[in-house]
Formats: sequence, structure tokens, C-alpha cells
Amino acid sequence: MKPTLADLERLARGAGAILRDGYEKKHDIQYKGVIDLVTEIDRASEDFLLREVQTHFAGGAILAEESGKISGINGDLWMIDPLDGTVNYAHGIPVFCVSIAFASDGETTLGAVYDPMRDEMFLAEKGRGATLNGRQIRASTTTELEKSLLVTGFPYDTWNTELDNFKYFERLGKQTQGVRRLGSAALDACYVAAGRFDAFWEFKLKPWDVAAGGLIAAEAGATVSAIDGNADYLSSPLSIIASAPGIYAALKEQLR
Ligand code: IPD
Ligand code: CA
Ligand code: CA
Repeated sequence: MKPTLADLERLARGAGAILRDGYEKKHDIQYKGVIDLVTEIDRASEDFLLREVQTHFAGGAILAEESGKISGINGDLWMIDPLDGTVNYAHGIPVFCVSIAFASDGETTLGAVYDPMRDEMFLAEKGRGATLNGRQIRASTTTELEKSLLVTGFPYDTWNTELDNFKYFERLGKQTQGVRRLGSAALDACYVAAGRFDAFWEFKLKPWDVAAGGLIAAEAGATVSAIDGNADYLSSPLSIIASAPGIYAALKEQLR
């Protein structure tokens, strides 16, 4: 059975409740890398989502952060980040979300990103626009970098990668109203969709980070691509620009 947007919303609210209930409790933290960590709540949220998808929408493949790829028997693919913003979460910073995208035959058609602390539900269906708590949202109409507020993020291997993004952070920080770093790529993209930020860019992400947020931003009128301009921004190595159309070209030029 194919899911509807209402199904994704229900799943995102269920997982969001798990994140909210676990917030500020003492966490069992395990390290996947030097800085990359996972809590028992990431796993509880993912277990809930996998169980729901496998019970109600059997047959689809699932790409979920903590479980990796689970193969399917049809052209459906779920891309799930059970807790985007884990480092914030582990520090008691209330900026995190659950991100769920559904793709059919290679095309992402549904996306839900839910911030349980603010009760903000971002939703989009391919070709039908994007909403925040039921209201249509649009990317900003900015046309000047110097009047723009941007957001970005940094990879977990930032200590020892060439592509650590600091060069671009500095460069764009000096040409705009500022560059924020919230710590949740899915929310970053949704905030572009809502016109809060004028653009978001990041290197070295994974499909579960931005499959839903990218669709939501695009459906809100943002221009979304890989940093080299490739329309297929989910393919590896994954990078993304989600931008108000009026500054997309200028931003892409600065990210060369
Ligand atoms: C991370 C966040 C962060 C981004 C990292 C992601 P996680 O996801 O989205 O903003 O900068 O690259 O890995 O680990 O919190 O799910
Ligand atoms: Ca993530
Ligand atoms: Ca995560």
C-alpha cells in the first residue's frame, strides 16, 4: 500500500512524541565517531518508525540512519532520520526534529519534518506546495546576498576533512546578514521553505537528512540542487543548496 501525506504526518507526530518525552532525561550516549553520537532515543524513534512502515506499508525499501538500508520488493523507498539534531538533543538544546520522506520509482513524492518542541509540522507533496501547520509557506523573495540570512552545517569529520566548509562559512559570513548554524539540516531546509532563512547549503549529508526538507523547500518555491547545480541532489556525494530563487546563482558562484 502507498502512504499518503497524512500517513507521514501521523508517523512524524508519533516519533516526535518519543523525542519530546525523552528530552532532557539522562541519556545513554554511544559514539559512532569522535563527535558523531547516538542516544537511546534515536533508536527508540527509529524502532517505532520502522515498525509502523513495515506493518502498514510492507514491501518498500527503507534507508534509516541507525539501521542502514533495508531492501524492499517494489519501487518504494522511505528515507528516515528518526532524530535530526542529535548533538543538540544530547545537550538539551531544543532544536531537533524527525524527518520522513517517501519516494516512488526514484522520485521523492512526500515529505514530513516535525519539530516536537515548537509543534511545527512541515509537509509537502510533490506538485502540491508546502505547508507549516496547515498554512501554505513560500521561500523568500530576496534578490541580494547582502540582505540575506543564511544557514549551513558542518560534517562530523570536520576535524580532518578538506571539505570542512569553513572557507565558505567565512566567505558568505562577510557578504550577508549572517550565517547561522542550527544543527539540524532538515529544519534548516524547512526554514528556507518558510522564508525564515534565505538559503541553506551543506556538504557531506545523507539522504535521510534532506530528502524531506529538500522536497518541502522546493515545493515552497526554493531552488534546490546539489552545490554543483545537479538537480539530483540526493545522489552521492550528497551536497545541497536550497535557496530563494533570487540569490541562488550568486550563492552557487560563491560555493565554487
Ligand atoms: C546532522 C545534522 C546537522 C548536520 C550534520 C548531520 P544528525 O544530523 O543535520 O545539522 O550539520 O551533517 O549529520 O546526526 O543530528 O541526525
Ligand atoms: Ca541527520
Ligand atoms: Ca539522526
